[in-house]
Amino acid sequence: MRSVYAAPMASPIIVSTWSFGRRGHAAAWPTLLDGGHAIDAVEKVCRVVEDDVEVDSVGWGGRPDREGRMTLDGCIMLSPRACGSVAAIERHRHPVSIARRVMDSTEHIMLVGPLADDFADAHGIEPEPVLAPVALEAWKSRHEAQGASGAPPAGGLHPDEARWRNHDTIGTLAIDTHGTIAGACSTSGMAWKVPGRVGDSPIIGHGLYVRPSVGGATGTGTGELVMGECSSFYVVERMAAGDEPAEACAAALRRIMDAGALTCEQTVAMLALRADGAWGAATIQKGYRTSVRTADQDDALEPGIMLLDA
Ligand code: GLY
Repeated sequence: MRSVYAAPMASPIIVSTWSFGRRGHAAAWPTLLDGGHAIDAVEKVCRVVEDDVEVDSVGWGGRPDREGRMTLDGCIMLSPRACGSVAAIERHRHPVSIARRVMDSTEHIMLVGPLADDFADAHGIEPEPVLAPVALEAWKSRHEAQGASGAPPAGGLHPDEARWRNHDTIGTLAIDTHGTIAGACSTSGMAWKVPGRVGDSPIIGHGLYVRPSVGGATGTGTGELVMGECSSFYVVERMAAGDEPAEACAAALRRIMDAGALTCEQTVAMLALRADGAWGAATIQKGYRTSVRTADQDDALEPGIMLLDA
């Protein structure tokens, strides 16, 4: 009699940037437990955070540009041949889901601006307000305090707080019970940015990268620093070369630091998940946390490596 062997089941895991990632994990974890797909789980994590008005750097709770206009960016990735991305979305609240639609329904990777919103309309994604009342109030307060000069935000914060204040991207990586890895990333971008600015988050290889045979990486912080070094791609390449995940993240951050001095508002943290489920993170500055969800764990943890003490 022929034996039937069940395929070995991988242990599912989700890791995400920041403590608010846990709220997304709570929504996405049942998907993974039920044998669902990692790509659905990472989309769900981002959608929860995009909806959360308490998160002031992702989705409609995020801070707008200096003219008070909100633009949202996001991407999603299974592999270099299966990824999607959108930037400068102005009429839809979930860039991650439009990115998913780009991945699933087109031969392209990236759509931008009003035409990306039109694409979402054409695919039945309902428009929603993208600027929450609390975010509009924050913009009005800043505008009244500083005039319309477009000057940088006033001081008053400790430099470590200032570094993180304007960049809290949700980047998330998951492995499902089938052993498939996926990643997604979503942001409202830098607070009070110059209109038209797009950062690292929706750019494949910068804010997010997944190579199924190796693993995935994502980042949070000053997009311009990440973009200068293709940091997510670099982290995955370092893991391919044998670095442990946290060491690979630290190597990417060291490249950023070696490239030039950081201003008091610049910092980055990187997060990596290897294809075997090992994960790690590193940060330049204190304050960053990684949310992790496994069968045994539901936490928000400090990264293993912090390059600058203080
Ligand atoms: N890391 C998010 C951004 O700079 O847009």
